[in-house]
Amino acid sequence: LWLTLGLTILAYLVGSISSAILVCKLLSLPDPRTQGSNNPGATNVYRIGGKAAAISVLVFDILKGAVPVWGAYFLKVDPISLGIIALASCLGHMFPVFFQFKGGKAVATAFGVLLPIGLDLGGLLVLTWYSVAKITHYSSLAAIVSVSLAPFYIWLLKPLYTYPAMMLSILILLRHKANIVRLIKGTEPKITSKKLNS
Ligand code: G3P
Repeated sequence: LWLTLGLTILAYLVGSISSAILVCKLLSLPDPRTQGSNNPGATNVYRIGGKAAAISVLVFDILKGAVPVWGAYFLKVDPISLGIIALASCLGHMFPVFFQFKGGKAVATAFGVLLPIGLDLGGLLVLTWYSVAKITHYSSLAAIVSVSLAPFYIWLLKPLYTYPAMMLSILILLRHKANIVRLIKGTEPKITSKKLNS
């Protein structure tokens, strides 16, 4: 129990490190919370600072989800606790203790926490995200479709984790409320769009 509690707090704290804000600060770019979609995530950093900055954010946010879950797995933590630790990472990203609890949407971090389930799942998720992004040029729609399909993929591959995956999906979909409204209105910015839209 103590191990799970410790790892959950650690996962939340690591999840709270907003790489989007830090990378932008480091590169003297504008704060991602005040530009584009106002979201501290890889997509918005791509709009603000381009590919290299966005990839750094993406890699960091994936790793900050994957490492605690992988660590817990190797420490032989039980599956329910693994689910709790995974959720804690994503909640850290969404509600970071270091940034007034105003964080991102946890798409990359969720991908990170799901990666230890298997590379087959990772591949399916990347393929889903990439196909939707390639066809529509909406990062948010790619995330919404991937996140909605994730519990179904997990149910097929590792049914044990279906419930935590469903909870994670609901949380991420709720974080995309403004994106969903803009998608319906037709005002959602494309991945590359620099236009201010909040
Ligand atoms: O990964 C976040 C993405 O789904 C939406 O980002 O900046 O377009 O709101 P953004």
